[in-house]
Amino acid sequence: MKFRTLVVGLAAATFSLAAFAQQPIVIKFSHVVAQDTPKGKGADFFKQKAEELTKGKVKVEVYHNSTLYKDKEEMEALQLGAVQMLAPSLAKFGPLGVKEFEVFDLPFMFDNYDQLRKVTNGPIGASLLKKLESKGILGLAYWDNGLKVMSANKPLRNPEDFKGLKMRIQSSNVLEAQMRAVSALPQKMAFSEVYQALQTGVVDGTENPPSNLYTQKMHEVQKFVTLSDHGYLGYAVIVNKKFWDGLPADIRKQLDDAMEQSTRYANQIAKVENDNALDAVKKSGKSELITLTAEQKKAWKKAMFKVHDQMSSRVGKDLIQSIYKETGFDPAKL
Ligand code: LMR
Repeated sequence: MKFRTLVVGLAAATFSLAAFAQQPIVIKFSHVVAQDTPKGKGADFFKQKAEELTKGKVKVEVYHNSTLYKDKEEMEALQLGAVQMLAPSLAKFGPLGVKEFEVFDLPFMFDNYDQLRKVTNGPIGASLLKKLESKGILGLAYWDNGLKVMSANKPLRNPEDFKGLKMRIQSSNVLEAQMRAVSALPQKMAFSEVYQALQTGVVDGTENPPSNLYTQKMHEVQKFVTLSDHGYLGYAVIVNKKFWDGLPADIRKQLDDAMEQSTRYANQIAKVENDNALDAVKKSGKSELITLTAEQKKAWKKAMFKVHDQMSSRVGKDLIQSIYKETGFDPAKL
């Protein structure tokens, strides 16, 4: 009888061990924007590819729209291992202590995706991601969103129009300086709180690429949207380093492949998604779109450009210069 109990017990243990061995590895991928955005679609694409290439050995759970964590909390959750993958905007590495990433927030630093890509796909991009490792974070890829528009309940055509307006920004000292440069009052705030803050008048205006503006319905509570292209917003896809390094080598390789394909996809759709979002804002008739004249644009550049100097000790003078060199940016031509 005793022997039988032992055998049954052993069989049960073996069975549960086998069941355990078949449990998929779960990757929780959390982010703060809507599903129908370049980042949201990129995350869904990664889920599909990762599960396909690992033949189900990995299960990716995507949490869109701050449903799991808000801005600040998600970084902490990644470091603690409560989530495995995030794609925060580059500015959000500043509060983590890697201030160099705020270089991407400098106003009028990039005119288009090609210039940006030269930086992110080259040695500068790689060396920036490397800086995350001391924080227990591994940077896998850069994903685009796009160039930003500026919105408010009054038309923003000239730098003077910003005077005294409370403008929501992400948690970035560079963006804070950018808003102060036009005499606005910057308000750092989590992305998930922006719509309500605009609706209730806690803030007067904000900036973001059209895809974020539209999918959060910000255009419904902002009367004017200026097509200023005054700055860039993009992401780094990051993972908890200990988790990633601890994956079986074959699975890690499959996930690296999935990430490579997802990066190509996300960066391919970013511009189209933003163009479509802008069209949708226009069609909604809820916000008036403002195109700046060449003169007005020049005045914005002139007013905001001093931020490059002001912030050079924070983000690194050499880094700024190396980006100018890479993109062919010439401050003298502003
Ligand atoms: C913001 O906070 O405005 C953006 O970083 C949101 C995002 O992730 O695109």
